[in-house]
Amino acid sequence: SELPLIDPFARAISYLRVSVTDRCDFRCAYCMTEHMTFLPKAELLTLEELDRLCSNFIALGVDKLRITGGEPLVRKGIMTFFEAMARHLHSGALRELTLTTNGSQLRKYAAELAACGVKRINVSLDSLDAEKFAKITRWGRLDQVLDGIEAAKQAGLKVKINTVALKGFNEDELFSLTEWCGRENHDLTFIEVMPMGDMGEAQRVDQYWPLKDLRRQLSTRYTLQDLPDRTGGPARYVRLAETDQRIGFITPLTHNFCESCNRVRLTCTGELYMCLGQEDMADLRAPLRASADDAQLRQAIRRAISHKPKGHDFDYTRQGVKGQMTRHMSHTGG
Ligand code: GTP
Ligand code: 5AD
Ligand code: SF4
Repeated sequence: SELPLIDPFARAISYLRVSVTDRCDFRCAYCMTEHMTFLPKAELLTLEELDRLCSNFIALGVDKLRITGGEPLVRKGIMTFFEAMARHLHSGALRELTLTTNGSQLRKYAAELAACGVKRINVSLDSLDAEKFAKITRWGRLDQVLDGIEAAKQAGLKVKINTVALKGFNEDELFSLTEWCGRENHDLTFIEVMPMGDMGEAQRVDQYWPLKDLRRQLSTRYTLQDLPDRTGGPARYVRLAETDQRIGFITPLTHNFCESCNRVRLTCTGELYMCLGQEDMADLRAPLRASADDAQLRQAIRRAISHKPKGHDFDYTRQGVKGQMTRHMSHTGG
């Protein structure tokens, strides 16, 4: 049988994040420009190709799949793909099938996702104020997303809220977001804004709200107890003693978590990015289309993983942004 995927720094790669589309019905300011040029449909992997690629990663030991985008639920026929991946859950090869979504289509899909074996989902939500929500997403409707989250809950899905911490934008919502998640029984994770896409550099530095500060503010009202379980992911979690809720912090800038990285990212065109914060990638579409023989494809996957870099170069220095990348988050899937 196959050897597991191990990178040059002895990290086992067991987690694949798959972007199934670069499109989205929102345009979050830190993710996309207002007038995005999306890829021609012909560039995209078909759902069958995505299935074949993912199935090969699973055969190589990947046991967690996170479907992302763009917004994964705007890809036509996406439930066919979830159904295809559900077979790996049934066989026991896949431990977790999940997605990160903006929530806009959840009312329509929550029950089907649950039926495919999805148990927990991550929903991006940066504000609970309808006007501010519309501003950051450029036209998104908060009520639609809240209704989607409610549908997910009704379908039995556990919801984790992702909030990008933005200075001058949602600093004032730290407590309202925390209280709302407490009431609704959602986990909540704050994310430091990463310098990607083509938003101006000055603006990026301006918007950077270090989570150390956020944590300090939170501790003026709550007792923060560190939780040891690192789940292999980038988030560090605390428990708020007063409300018994979980809060996560994803701090690529103030605390780099690359040493325990277990993941790689597949784009909707079949490029495998070894790191969110590096340009290094391998084209898997060519070997995928060159032959129906999976051996060559697996070899291409192994070769790519053998180049996985040690970590990202993001930093906000006194001089400005370091490690800024022009690639949009919607391309690599967050
Ligand atoms: P898990 O699957 O439980 O680890 O969830 P997650 O929180 O990583 O997934 P989610 O899709 O919600 O990701 C939230 C954000 O964390 C991403 O959009 C990124 O901003 C950040 N993130 C996740 N993985 C990495 C990583 O490997 N490197 C960096 N720099 N950021 C990451
Ligand atoms: N920095 C940090 N997080 C980002 N996301 C998108 N762009 C950025 C960025 N520049 C987040 C979204 C979503 C997740 C997939 O990525 O808010 O929660
Ligand atoms: Fe869409 Fe998510 Fe990017 Fe916002 S962050 S534009 S919801 S893909």
